[in-house]
Amino acid sequence: MKTSHYRPEIHFTAKEGWINDPNGLVYENGNYHLFAQFYPGPVWGPMHWYHAVSRDLIHWEHLPVAMAPDELGYIYSGSAVIDTDNTSGFGEDGKPPMIAMFTHHWEEEGVPTNRHEQQSIAWSTDYINFHKYEGNPIIPSNMPDFRDPKVFKNPKGGWSVVMSGGDRALFYASDDLKNWRKTGEFGPEGNYSGGVWECPDFFPLTVNGEEKWVLLVSMGPFHDNHGSRTQYFVGDFDGEKFICDGRFDKPEFIDEGFDNYASVSYAGTDKCILVGWASNWVYAREIPTEEEGFRSCMTLAREFSLADTPLGGVRIAQKPITGEVFDEGKPSDGTLPGELFRLTVRGEGAGSVTLKNGNGESFTFGVNENNEMYIDRSNAGQKDFNAEFGTEWFSKYATGRLYQGSWEMDLIFDHELTELFIDGGTRALTNLVFPTAPYDQIETSGNASVTVHNGKA
Ligand code: FRU
Repeated sequence: MKTSHYRPEIHFTAKEGWINDPNGLVYENGNYHLFAQFYPGPVWGPMHWYHAVSRDLIHWEHLPVAMAPDELGYIYSGSAVIDTDNTSGFGEDGKPPMIAMFTHHWEEEGVPTNRHEQQSIAWSTDYINFHKYEGNPIIPSNMPDFRDPKVFKNPKGGWSVVMSGGDRALFYASDDLKNWRKTGEFGPEGNYSGGVWECPDFFPLTVNGEEKWVLLVSMGPFHDNHGSRTQYFVGDFDGEKFICDGRFDKPEFIDEGFDNYASVSYAGTDKCILVGWASNWVYAREIPTEEEGFRSCMTLAREFSLADTPLGGVRIAQKPITGEVFDEGKPSDGTLPGELFRLTVRGEGAGSVTLKNGNGESFTFGVNENNEMYIDRSNAGQKDFNAEFGTEWFSKYATGRLYQGSWEMDLIFDHELTELFIDGGTRALTNLVFPTAPYDQIETSGNASVTVHNGKA
């Protein structure tokens, strides 16, 4: 059996080695910077910050590793901003500094339970070489779970940061990005993670002419939630803390696929653009891409908005950013054009699409009789690399649509990753698949008509 190659063409991967969370997403002067949790080996290890830059969020130039572990610990997740007014004082020759705020994670060798996490910053004026601030840590602590600072401009002036403090999200404020004071907390009410909230993000979006603030929190690998997933809340920000509109009966997720975690937004863009890590802590370390020299990719960048939906009220909607990658498409003739393509599927009532290869493997998605969008990857390809990956719990999933009547689905396929959206992106399912040969046939059932768009990176 031939092992297909899995490295995606339009999804970000490290040149060589392991990545997890996107970090420090910041835009300046036509450049989208992407940093990532990185270890130069096949699995997670003492964390560095990888660095790459793109003009279109699709093609990436790899840059030198921005930060490596030091005596304060590993370089865990965080964010970056351009300090346009030089509030930090790190600017040079009129060039505003880029400030990265991140977590220094210290643990005793061989005893990872003996640990603490503190916040630190680093600055750069060429946006390539980073200098860690000599006053680090800027928010000292003894807490074992106190991490993932996401800096944003406070609408009332100055800077704010939202970060994880164990089972809740913490808010701090600062005028200079160096001295911080705590202003608020959110949670643990509403925390369905079974433990720690990670990688929070916080941004405003407008719906029905009203500005609302959206709080994202990533929920560790909690089995009941099908592993790692990202929950969200909609509400208001009074400049100090988040006031939730109040929905606590069940978590709402930005994406109910098995493989979208730790999504965070770009700083410095007019649009709200997020990138997530396309994997799941339950099996991420074992996905069968080691021999290709990489492990894990990011989701496509997605533009987020809020939509007022007939069946679910105000919800996140997301649209992948694909630039010029896909052609205008033609009606399906039953074959698939290689390993980078997009399918637009229109239907009404129940209908499904199956991608197949000559090795008897298939990936199915569609809408069922209960008006749910679903996926089934139980027979999609390799699955024995991990004990959980092939189980039903991590293979099949259905979620209720937020609209009734006819539907349109959008599937983007890139070697190992499927990103599926319906009803303007108000539901999303992102899932890895590892077919042993490329899917080359397509079958439909029920009411579904497919347009195939060929992709070119
Ligand atoms: C989330 C996370 C973060 C942490 C990082 C470590 O995936 O656990 O909370 O900063 O990964 O790599």
